Amino acid sequence: MVQPEEQARLYRPRPELLPAAHVPSLADYRRLYRRSVEKPQEFWGDVAKEFYWKQQQQPWVPFLWYNFDATKGRIFIEWMKGAKTNVCYNLLDRNVGEKKLGDKVAFYWEGNEPGDSMKITYGELLRKVCQFANVLHNHGVKKGDRISIYLPMILELVIAMLACARIGAIHSVVFAGFSADSLCERILDCGCSLLITADAFYRGDKLVNLKQIADEALQKSKDKGFPLKKCIVVKHLGREEIAADEEIAADGACSQSPPLKRLCQDVQIPWDPHMDVWWQDLMSGASTECEPEWCDSEDELFILYTSGSTGKPKGVLHTVGGYMLYAATSFKYVFDYQPEDIYWCTADIGWITGHSYITYGPLANGATSVLFEGIPTYPDAGRMWSIIDKYKVTKFYTAPTAIRLLMKYGEELVKKHSRKSLKVLGTVGEPINPEAWLWYYRVVGEERCPIVDTFWQTETGGHMLTPLPAATPMKPGSATFPFFGVVPAIVNESGEELEGEAEGYLVFKQPWPGIMRTLYGNHQQFETTYFKKFPGYYVTGDGCRRDKDGYYWITGRIDDMLNVSGHLLSTAEVESALLGHAAVSEAAVVSHPHPLKGECLYCFVTLKDGHEFTKDLADELKKQVREKIGPIATPDYIQNAPSLPKTRSGKITRRILRKIAQNDRDLGDISTLVNPGIINQLFNNRCDTKL
Ligand code: PRX
Repeated sequence: MVQPEEQARLYRPRPELLPAAHVPSLADYRRLYRRSVEKPQEFWGDVAKEFYWKQQQQPWVPFLWYNFDATKGRIFIEWMKGAKTNVCYNLLDRNVGEKKLGDKVAFYWEGNEPGDSMKITYGELLRKVCQFANVLHNHGVKKGDRISIYLPMILELVIAMLACARIGAIHSVVFAGFSADSLCERILDCGCSLLITADAFYRGDKLVNLKQIADEALQKSKDKGFPLKKCIVVKHLGREEIAADEEIAADGACSQSPPLKRLCQDVQIPWDPHMDVWWQDLMSGASTECEPEWCDSEDELFILYTSGSTGKPKGVLHTVGGYMLYAATSFKYVFDYQPEDIYWCTADIGWITGHSYITYGPLANGATSVLFEGIPTYPDAGRMWSIIDKYKVTKFYTAPTAIRLLMKYGEELVKKHSRKSLKVLGTVGEPINPEAWLWYYRVVGEERCPIVDTFWQTETGGHMLTPLPAATPMKPGSATFPFFGVVPAIVNESGEELEGEAEGYLVFKQPWPGIMRTLYGNHQQFETTYFKKFPGYYVTGDGCRRDKDGYYWITGRIDDMLNVSGHLLSTAEVESALLGHAAVSEAAVVSHPHPLKGECLYCFVTLKDGHEFTKDLADELKKQVREKIGPIATPDYIQNAPSLPKTRSGKITRRILRKIAQNDRDLGDISTLVNPGIINQLFNNRCDTKL
């Protein structure tokens, strides 16, 4: 149990970080921050000078031009419009040429199996990206075309993204844990011309036949009138050449590598010779040079789907110039990046964290990163700490859910590993509870490493509220202060800004370069979702408290979204998956506290006449949700609800369902319900134990 004084205490940065730090004190942070928000053009203009621009902006075009107020017309945001650049050129050619980093390792790839590893330098990465960009050209891919990428955490994923960026194609990466339905929905929404996937991969012990899922998605897409012509398949489990990694074994310890898991003969990878083509075959003949496409700063860079409260995923669109500046700058300052760092972010590239802080931010800085294919508990729960020692990781970025999971295995497993290379720790994705924060700080970081608790969203492109490692005194559980260029406010239900100590809706008052520009193909939904509730502000959808010292504390979502293990899900999306089952007539899904995942799904279902609620049916419903959305959305609880509590206008009162799920009989006002009699029955039907 965390004592209140421990939580209220300020945890100050350690003096040894200060001499080399980019921002060595709170006063320095405040000075830079003030400049970034008062003179954004000067601040970001200086950042932009670090990058290569094929063509500067015309002097009469504003550096930043925007409208955040829907009552005054269309919402738009433009940074450096008219300037021409290429993100891939800045991440690779600039680092190899101007910065002479061609021989520096860009990624140490660590496979699911210990001992399965590779590395790639900036020079090699540039050549491979050019080759694949030529492959895309040869398949007729042009600037503005959408390319779906459905790959596990392998180097080809980064190569494919950057090859798209090089030729001005828009990538849409779909997390490889998503189902065929989810992939199909994303393919259809962006109208992509080509899919890039892999044969199969292991997640821990579990084999995922990715090609089979991809094929199902392609069949569904064809059935809906959208047939794709090509599918490029990386031979991953089937690949022959894997480098042994003796030279980077931990501290000279020489252990016998276990046999690598490769594709067994009896696993069938479905293959259509008219449609499918191996990545490796295409690469072998492709040239290693490819002229980049010079894009406008406001051209599209990528689409990334995130859950929407309507149930349909939203295609968040980021553009070239602003996103590049923001991902690069936030990476540099938030992790206090130094050239000798070995940085490791454990997120999957299928999420925004992986886009900004595995691919774009680190490469823009010429950093060396670890790219990990596996999971924290395979082959045992010491895997993270052994990878940290193996590569001598200095900056480590993970999710609270992973920390809570590893806490369960006790301190000994952590302490068996040295971890002496670590300098900065980070978290992302959900509020971190003070117990987990203190464990991370004391046990993992040995009170030596500051923790950057970074609050941000797919939509924001990069960190919004975060400590800076050498500057910000930390409070466990608080994301502390705004990053450069970010002006937060807390507003009440009427949209009035609250000063000082306050709690309410978290909004942002002016654009930062990394803000999304639209929802792909649906600008109106973009305006409604983020700008309508409080005109003049970007609305995050999160609740927030500011304490007496000005620290921000995220209190959680205030819309119909929930955060399971750091992944946002919409209750509507899960309800629609449940309603897809023939036995279900109505469904209501609420968030429920979970010790590891933070939140989990508690589902109330009303069955159609003639169906009986049984354990088998509950299992079937769980399976249905898994298949429709993916394993991350698997419900923990399914409860039989003969009917659902509703208001006179027919709205389901989820507030009451949340209380029932938690067995909390303090229901408040229930006079608006048309059917209060159902409540007792729902309490009696509660799932005390998981079905
Ligand atoms: O509710 C907030 C929570 O995650 C949401 C954004 O989810 P997503 O777009 O999937 O991006 C996750 C990775 C950036 C936010 O609206 N969230 C994210 N980071 C934090 C957080 N909540 C509290 N503290 C954080 N550090």
